[in-house]
Amino acid sequence: MRVGVPRELKDNEYRVAITPAGVRELVVSGHSVIIERNAGAGSSIPDTDFERAGASIVPDADTVFSEADMVLKVKEPIPEEFHRLREGLILFTYLHLAASEPVTRALMESGAAGVAYETVELPDRSLPLLAPMSEVAGRMAPQAGAKLLEREHGGRGVLLGGVSGVRPGRVVVIGAGMSGMNAAWIAQGMEAEVVILDKNINKLRDVDRIHQGKILTLASNRLAVEEVVTDADLVIGAVLVPGAVAPTVVTEDIIKEMKPGSVVVDISIDQGGCFETSHMTTHSDPTYVVHDVVHYCVGNMPGAVPHTSTYALTNATLPYVVALADHGLADAVRRDPALAKGVNVLGGQIVYEPVAEAHGLPWTALHSLI
Ligand SMILES: NC(=O)c1ccc[n+]([C@@H]2O[C@H](COP(=O)([O-])OP(=O)(O)OC[C@H]3O[C@@H](n4cnc5c(N)ncnc54)[C@H](O)[C@@H]3O)[C@@H](O)[C@H]2O)c1
Repeated sequence: MRVGVPRELKDNEYRVAITPAGVRELVVSGHSVIIERNAGAGSSIPDTDFERAGASIVPDADTVFSEADMVLKVKEPIPEEFHRLREGLILFTYLHLAASEPVTRALMESGAAGVAYETVELPDRSLPLLAPMSEVAGRMAPQAGAKLLEREHGGRGVLLGGVSGVRPGRVVVIGAGMSGMNAAWIAQGMEAEVVILDKNINKLRDVDRIHQGKILTLASNRLAVEEVVTDADLVIGAVLVPGAVAPTVVTEDIIKEMKPGSVVVDISIDQGGCFETSHMTTHSDPTYVVHDVVHYCVGNMPGAVPHTSTYALTNATLPYVVALADHGLADAVRRDPALAKGVNVLGGQIVYEPVAEAHGLPWTALHSLI
């Protein structure tokens, strides 16, 4: 198969959908890879690294889309890319079709197959191609919070790790899933005092097993949240109820009781946020202050570290990319039900039910087309 990778066009998107290691893997399996010139520049991966791994660099995205059998991207196509979609093409990327009727219709009208990273789903219902970005955001959160706690960034002037003879910063993490667990881990590594809360006791058992008491675990309920949050220097919100808006775990009344200059980082902001006072911010203007509490609510935290994010994302996508290239779409999804869940649009039909529901459009079962 010929696999193509264009440069991302979406505003402030610096990731790229393949790394040199991915190129090598595909080439060794007998496939060819074409990459648009400078596609990796935003992630600090020069064209020469791709060429050394066996890819060919082509001058523009038109060449990538017209010559490739499968195009790998990071973000959904934007309108200026729609005309490049065509019948027979496999597009493998984050699609978020339920949130965009124009992209859904563009894919249907083109006849291309749209396979979405975010709906690839393992039998235990986990989403393996979303997890790496939660991992990145979780690990960034204490780093962002530590900086904001410095006086000149509006914080109360607390060094998270403290020093000998001085109490360290107190960090509360709400949600012990992929992002929360990683946030707590990094904060503990910075030698802060860390408390993590979750409604799911099994998640807390995992934290205890790994960290052996170095991170305090608490069942999440109103009183526990009130007590630990009002005592904290940094609170990291990392909850998720799959498919739903994030629950408000920290109310405005609790925020009012927090210490002036304390910091909240709301990772869950992409699902609406778990602090009542949260609203989405950007990397160019990441913070605002409510009741003397600094709020950091950036919706695409991994975008700040595109090099790491590109590697984290492609480590997870590569096995699926190789399966699609080796077997073709029909055979690959017959072999792997997790990948089958990723197929959203095929032959002009919507084959992922929630997308059809979101737009009031008809749904066709994937197995009836394959
Ligand atoms: N802002 C960003 O840049 C960014 C990046 C990646 C992921 N995210 C988002 O971060 C959020 C968390 O993702 P994840 O992968 O860590 O999810 P996850 O499913 O791995 O973990 C979520 C955890 O929240 C817990 N939870 C649910 N309701 C709770 C409550 N009321 N109190 C305490 N815990 C509760 C769940 O039990 C679960 O353990 C998602 O909204 C995700 O989209 C944001």
